[in-house]
Amino acid sequence: MTDGSDMYQPELERAPARGIWGSRVGFILAATGSAIGLGNIWKFPYITGVYGGGAFVLVYLISVVIVGLPLMIAELMIGRHSKKNPVGAFKTLHHPRSPWQLTGWLGVLSGFVILSFYSVVAGWAMAYIFKSAAGFSGTAEQIQGEYGALVADPALSILWHTIFMVLCIGIVAGGVQRGIERWSKILMPTLFAILLGLMAYGLFWTDGGARAMNFLFKPDFSKLSAEAALSALGHAFFTLSLGMGAMLTYGSYMRRDESITRDAITVSVLDTVIALIAGIAIYALVFNFDTDPAAGPGLIFQTLPVLFAETGPWISVPFFILLTFAALTSGISLLEVVVSYFIDERRWGRIKSTLILGTAIYLFGLLSAVAALTVPFRGKQQGFFDIFDFISTNYMLPIGGFLTCLFAAWVMKKASMISEFGSGGIMFKGLVFVLRFVTPVAVLLVLLHGLELLPFMEY
Ligand code: PHE
Repeated sequence: MTDGSDMYQPELERAPARGIWGSRVGFILAATGSAIGLGNIWKFPYITGVYGGGAFVLVYLISVVIVGLPLMIAELMIGRHSKKNPVGAFKTLHHPRSPWQLTGWLGVLSGFVILSFYSVVAGWAMAYIFKSAAGFSGTAEQIQGEYGALVADPALSILWHTIFMVLCIGIVAGGVQRGIERWSKILMPTLFAILLGLMAYGLFWTDGGARAMNFLFKPDFSKLSAEAALSALGHAFFTLSLGMGAMLTYGSYMRRDESITRDAITVSVLDTVIALIAGIAIYALVFNFDTDPAAGPGLIFQTLPVLFAETGPWISVPFFILLTFAALTSGISLLEVVVSYFIDERRWGRIKSTLILGTAIYLFGLLSAVAALTVPFRGKQQGFFDIFDFISTNYMLPIGGFLTCLFAAWVMKKASMISEFGSGGIMFKGLVFVLRFVTPVAVLLVLLHGLELLPFMEY
């Protein structure tokens, strides 16, 4: 399909080296795998607890629709039309010396930084599979203390970080179809099954199910602060893997005959449903034992294990397997963004790119794995883990998302967009309007909030 616009190069269609998804289901599972991760099962439940439940969930749902979905469609369009990694995509769709390629660079850098600390949390999840199998026992303080001991032990944290990175490297080295797609097809259905089992347990075998549903779905707007609303918006980004070219890269392996809109809706809905199910499963337990829902980041690794001591390993082992699988399919998408740059732009082979970049990210991740290593940051001594998490979530992803949105809405040729969207009718006009005026404003708010520059907020 040549539309005669921009720098569309038909020979790319025949380029043999680039991967392509084997089937629509394969793409959906891989993209959903990228989206569903620690963000859904670790972060969403705990920030929902911190911000008081229902009203926060509602703002998050609205954010997914007005910010997440349009941006995901935009990323998939840019990826599929250019058939390139994030840097190459902006060059191909604009011109070889285009300043927009900085957006791609920021994405590759974000992939590098995010995976380096993501792998450390994923490593803890793996460690907890084995801790759960052995069973949690002792007083609540003792069980909670195990988490602190793991984090504070550099040898252990590094060991699990190493194992996680080796898994990511092994899968990505296998390629788009034989690595990422094949493993997503195994890991994602297993993840769905485990999660449904845990939700059924929470709803039907504990007494916390009804309270969990109330907590998540009955909005109490008196609890909704501006801070909560902005966090909900920011989280919509992270959880859908937007703003750093992950969806763009996965989109570049899509076939032309698939509907981008339909697939983006499927992925967003699945990601959201999974976060809500994880919330139900976790809060049913929390309320069953009358525990505080606002435990914060320690909810999964400190609060839940105390409750798991009561339920036994039948619940806790599948739970941490679930967390590990979710993290793995997200980790491979982060690595793929970085690797695809070296394959496309530097003409490296896949194995070489994966090994070299995977190792570099692994080494960089050692900074985050050693909790004792702290530097002054924003007025206090902080570990690299917190610093990288803060910088990527608050600055890198929103800036990347903002620029991607502006590029799609104002710079990319309309004819190219229409060829990807499938039609130029009312739906398309609506999308362009939202991408031009709604999404960037919402993203800008998140960004300014991250920079502590919003005039109506107190910092
Ligand atoms: N979406 C993933 C999660 O929810 C994290 C992620 C962000 C993955 C950006 C890839 C790119 O955990």
